[in-house]
This record gives sequence, structure tokens and C-alpha cells, in this order.
Amino acid sequence: MLLVTGGAGYIGTHVTRSLISGGRDVVVVDDLSAGHPELLPAGVPVEVGSVLDTDFLMDVIDMYDVEGVVHLAGRKAVDESITRPSYYYRQNVYGMQSVLAAMVRLRVRRIVFSSSAAVYGAVGDDTVTEDAPTLPQSPYGRSKLMCEWLLRDIAAAEGMSWSALRYFNVAGAGDKDLADRGIHNLVPRVFQAIDRGEAPSVFGDTYDTPDGTCIRDYIHVTDLAAAHATVVDAMDTAPMAAVYNVGCGCGASVLDVMRAARQASGVPFDWQIDEPRAGDPARVVADAPGSARNSAGRHGTTWTTSSAARGKHGRRRGRPR
Ligand SMILES: NC(=O)c1ccc[n+]([C@@H]2O[C@H](COP(=O)([O-])OP(=O)(O)OC[C@H]3O[C@@H](n4cnc5c(N)ncnc54)[C@H](O)[C@@H]3O)[C@@H](O)[C@H]2O)c1
Repeated sequence: MLLVTGGAGYIGTHVTRSLISGGRDVVVVDDLSAGHPELLPAGVPVEVGSVLDTDFLMDVIDMYDVEGVVHLAGRKAVDESITRPSYYYRQNVYGMQSVLAAMVRLRVRRIVFSSSAAVYGAVGDDTVTEDAPTLPQSPYGRSKLMCEWLLRDIAAAEGMSWSALRYFNVAGAGDKDLADRGIHNLVPRVFQAIDRGEAPSVFGDTYDTPDGTCIRDYIHVTDLAAAHATVVDAMDTAPMAAVYNVGCGCGASVLDVMRAARQASGVPFDWQIDEPRAGDPARVVADAPGSARNSAGRHGTTWTTSSAARGKHGRRRGRPR
């Protein structure tokens, strides 16, 4: 049995579906602060509680005979992490420590962790390999890097197999019910603004990029979920101690995303330029062909911004507002 923490969230529901369709048994732990357990496949047990509660995690591990953990539970908003750093460090870093403590006590030896490209910080024009310097620009990015340090050190001391997957920007949906309902990521924010008849915000247009807006690497969530299943399978055959980028290896600017959303929705909306946000590097794009694509089964190269926009909201062209 695999334990998926945060399994009722946007990415967690996709990861759980991918693991189940690969023949795995899964139990989900989620505090439901942002989760939707009704979107999980029928029959998947959901234990409601916080990963900060080590005793609760040990009970779940014991009750379900858990042999491995996919740890997704955490907070993910860069801007919120700047105003609430203490909360972010507690939820993300103490959460990681608590998961590892429960695993160590009950001798669970495999873990896949949701890290983030936010650990890199500003990286200039180059694509980012896993051995690029880690200079995160926000408490969120620093919290993810601290989680990686904990993971690396505790796994080495305890003989655990581990992988940290550094997700780039995750978008799309395997099914329209599974769309990202959060307010923190660009694609749902754009569609939520369109639905309200408002102009979506572009945070800054004076970055050092061709159109002045931030460039990111958008990976489709089903490709990301498949990467988890591949890493879990790989851990069956050999011990692992690895960090993988999980991105598509291509960059799209905020304005590219706006145009793709216009095309996908059929709504000729305008956007508005707002102040840049603290903690946003100009450009972060994965260089993963030698790593995640081969080792973690990444399929992101077929993805485009417009396909993610369509997949996310199941829009039809020309749909009236
Ligand atoms: N969405 C992205 O673009 C992105 C990019 C990089 C990394 N990540 C990481 O991936 C993970 C999942 O992200 P998501 O987009 O699915 O977010 P999400 O908010 O949709 O899902 C997180 C889930 O974890 C649960 N949760 C939060 N704190 C918890 C706690 N203390 N105990 C138990 N459950 C808790 C929430 O209820 C939710 O179901 C996060 O760790 C995030 O930092 C996401």
C-alpha cells in the first residue's frame, strides 16, 4: 500500500489516479484544507488529518501496512509565503520532518517528494539542470529546499530510497472535474477572471525577457502524475537517491498563456498590467532530457499552453461569457 499525502489536492488526485491505474493500492492522508476527496477514485480510503501529526501518520502507516510514501501535502503560493513565512516553514518543513519521522519509526523505506523549481531562483537565460545552483527567492522556495535537505540526510542515515521531483509550472487537467480550483497558479487565475468578466492580471511587463513578462515551463498534470508512477515503479527494482526536474523543457511567457487562453476560451478578453510580485524570477525553464524524461518517464514535450488551457477547463470555442 502507498500513502499519498495531499492526495485530495489538484496534483494529488491525478497522482492517485495514475498510481491506481498502474495497479497500486493507495491510501490518502489529507487535512482537506484545500482538498476535494470526492474527486478521488471510488474505494480509495481517505484519512483526514494533518501531516504535522506524527502519531496520526504512524497510525495510518500501521493500519494500512504502508510500504512507501508520496508526499505532496503542503502550501504552494510564493506570494503568500512572503507574508506568512512562519506558516510556510511549519507546514512544509515541519510537515516533511513529521512524515520522515513516522516513516523512520515504522521502517518505511521509500518516499517520493513534491519539490519545486522554486528552489532554483533566478537562473538567467539558460535552461536549468538538476545540478544548477539553488538560490530560492522566496520562503516557499527555501522551504522546499530545506525539505530536500531533510530528505537527503535522513534517507542517507536510515537507508531509505528517495526521489525529489522538482515540478515546474503544473497546468491542465486529466478530466474537467479535476481542474486546479486554487487561486495561486496562473492558468486557473486567468479563467476565474474571464468567468467574472474581469481582465486577468499580468504581474510585471518589464522583466528581461522578449515580451517583458515572466517565462515559465508549463507541464501538463497528467504527465507529471505519470512521472510519479514511473519513479515509484523504478524504486521497486533498485534503490534510488535522486532529484529530477519535471518540466516540458520549453518556456512560455505570461502573454503567451494569455493568448492561449483567449484562443482556447474563444473569449476576446483583455489583460491588465499590474506591479511585479516579489519572489518572481524572470525565467525558469527545465532542462531535463537526460534526467526526468528518461528516468522518470516524462512525456511533457507534446504539451502546449493552449492544450493545457483547453484541458483545464473543458472549454468550447466561442463559449459565451
Ligand atoms: N501546482 C504547482 O504548480 C506546483 C508546482 C511545484 C510544486 N508543487 C507542490 O505540489 C504539491 C501539491 O500541489 P497542488 O497544486 O496539488 O496543491 P493543492 O493545494 O491543490 O493540494 C495540496 C493538498 O495538500 C493538503 N494539505 C495541505 N497541508 C496539509 C497538511 N498539513 N496535512 C495534510 N494535508 C495537507 C490540501 O488539503 C490539499 O489537498 C505541493 O507540495 C506543492 O508545493 C505544486
